[in-house]
Order: sequence, then structure tokens, then C-alpha cells
Amino acid sequence: MRDREEKKRKKRLKKRIIVFIALIIVIIILINPVTSIFKLKNKGYSFISSFKIYSIGETSRVLDSDYSKTLDEVIEDDTFDKKYVGSYLIIDFYEYEDFFVNLKTWLDLGYIPGDVNVINKWNSKELNAKVSEKFVKDISNYLEFNFFKVEKFDRYLNYFNGDYKDTIVKVNIGLDKKFYEDPEIIKEYSINVIVNKYNKLDSSFKPTKLVEVDRCTDGEHYLSEEAKNAYDKLCTASLKDGLKLGITSAYRSYESQQDVYATYLKSNGQDYVNQYVATPGYSEHQTGLALDIKSMVSSPFKTTKEYKWMLNNAYKYGFILRYPEDKEDITGYSTEAWHFRFVGEEAATYINENNITYEEYCAMFM
Ligand code: DAL
Ligand code: ZN
Repeated sequence: MRDREEKKRKKRLKKRIIVFIALIIVIIILINPVTSIFKLKNKGYSFISSFKIYSIGETSRVLDSDYSKTLDEVIEDDTFDKKYVGSYLIIDFYEYEDFFVNLKTWLDLGYIPGDVNVINKWNSKELNAKVSEKFVKDISNYLEFNFFKVEKFDRYLNYFNGDYKDTIVKVNIGLDKKFYEDPEIIKEYSINVIVNKYNKLDSSFKPTKLVEVDRCTDGEHYLSEEAKNAYDKLCTASLKDGLKLGITSAYRSYESQQDVYATYLKSNGQDYVNQYVATPGYSEHQTGLALDIKSMVSSPFKTTKEYKWMLNNAYKYGFILRYPEDKEDITGYSTEAWHFRFVGEEAATYINENNITYEEYCAMFM
């Protein structure tokens, strides 16, 4: 009898020990996920995200990084791919419709998280579509420049010359195309208008306010009002410094440019006009903002103290030497010591300080 009791007692004890051990095992099994999920939740992740992160074995990597809204949100999206967890962690979250689709497309193509962040920062549907077409390994190098223009994306890639800034500037100018090939028709007129072999004025264009220049000139010449006023100030300063400036040409209508062109073509030939005379419609003399300066004392202008003075002082009044030496490949014209252009003091000062052409200035700031 006692034996049976003893046996029963032992059996019960054994059962209890088994249950106890099972309980310990269950606790040991659960303690890891529970604490992981708890820690992930504590970091800011949703319960679903925390569970998923734990279940794909990424707990420690995620816990070692800052909270990522991108990771938290993408986990519940169809596009989630566990091989990109490391990338999601460092991709900034942006709230727009195709964000997750773009992430997948771009990461699949090979873009690195840094590129993805830079692309998203541009906030341009057109750019997003472009980079979704193909992998551009150095995309961030292009996007560093705020004068990168998405609509010229393919032209930059085709024209790339080893220098990102230079490539963008040159394509913005139009230098990847031939002169006169596909000109922009100028629609807006301001003191910052650019007229060159890529940007054309309508034949009927005439500045609204042309004013006759009455100082530092010996003939009848007209300029746009803003340019005329600035020339007056320049004139006053030049007189103070004992110089005698004059004008050979200022505003020219489309028709008078036709005459100039025809005359030079006849006397000097095609090569000469290509280098020195604008095709009608492509001359900035038609804007009333350009003028050809001379010295009333001697010539050629380049050898005079008036020229030297203009080089050092014109920018203070908003004028620039428009076709400088060694810039023919950018301006499309051989150097013209006499041709100055009013662009306003801010632009002229920048151009002067940085020794760049008006083409380059416009390619970066317009
Ligand atoms: N000489 C300059 C380029 C012009 O004809 O406008
Ligand atoms: Zn000129």
C-alpha cells in the first residue's frame, strides 16, 4: 500500500519536473523574441515591423542603427525586400506616391542609398523617371550642381567630358550642339537676356524704351534706357579719370544687322563674319544692351588707355567685355576688344571676379 503511494508520489513529482522543465524551455525560447520585439518597439518601430525585423534576423543591425521611418514603413509594403534592410536604414523617408516603387526600382538597378537620397531630394518626377530607366553610376556627381537641368539629362550623359560641372555648364550653354542648329527663341526680355548663336530674337523684336546716348559719344546712338543710364555713370567716371570714350555702334535693328552682315560678308568673306558678325536675329546689338566702344583719341581700341580703363572699371557700372580672349569656343566669336554689354552690376561683378563669360554665367544662374 505504502509502496503504491510512494510510486504515485514519485510519478507526480516527475510530471511536475517535466512541466517545470518544459516551462523553462518555453521561457528560454520566448525570452529572446519578446525582448527583441520589446526593444524594437521601444526604438519606435511598429509591432508588425518589430516582429518582421526579428523574424528575418535583423534585430541587432536595426537596434544598432537610428530609427528609420523608411524601414518601418516599407516593411508593410509589397516592395519590401529583406536584402535591402541595410539600405532602408539609411534612406531618408519621403512622403510621395511612388516612394516605395522607386526605392525598389533604384536599389534593383544598383543605386546606392546616398544616390537615392540625393535623387529624392530633387523632388522631380521627371528626374525620378529618368533614373528609373537606367543605372547612372555617377548620378550624385551631376546632381551636386543646382544648375543641373533634368530636361537635359541625356545630353549631359552624351556630352560628358570628365568634369561634371564643366559638362553641365557647357550643355546648358548649348555647346553640345552646332551653332544655329536648334536655337531657342527668346520670349522674355530683361537686362539679363542672352543672345548668341543658340538664342535668337524675333526679327520684329525692338526694346520698348530706346534712348539716345548723349554723353561720351560723337554720333547718333541709342541704347535701352537701363543701359543708357548706366553708360552715363560710366561716362562720368571715365571723364573724371581723364579719358575720352566714344561709341561706334549701339542699338541695331534686325534690318540694320542685315546690312552690317551683308556688308562684311561682301568685303571680308564668310570666315570673317562667322568670327565677328552675328547673323541677323542673333546679335545682342538688337537688344539695345550692347555697344561698341572706341577711344576718341587713338586706335586701334585695344592699344588705348580707354580700353585698359574699360577692362578695369566697366563692371562697376554693370558692363562686361562680352567676347574676351581665349573664350571663342564658348562665346562663338573671336575676341572683340570694343564690344561691351550691359548686364547689371551684380552679374558684371561676378563675371569680372570669376573671369567667366556671360554664357557661363547664364548657364549657372539663369
Ligand atoms: N559683333 C557682334 C558679334 C555682333 O555682330 O553682334
Ligand atoms: Zn558689337
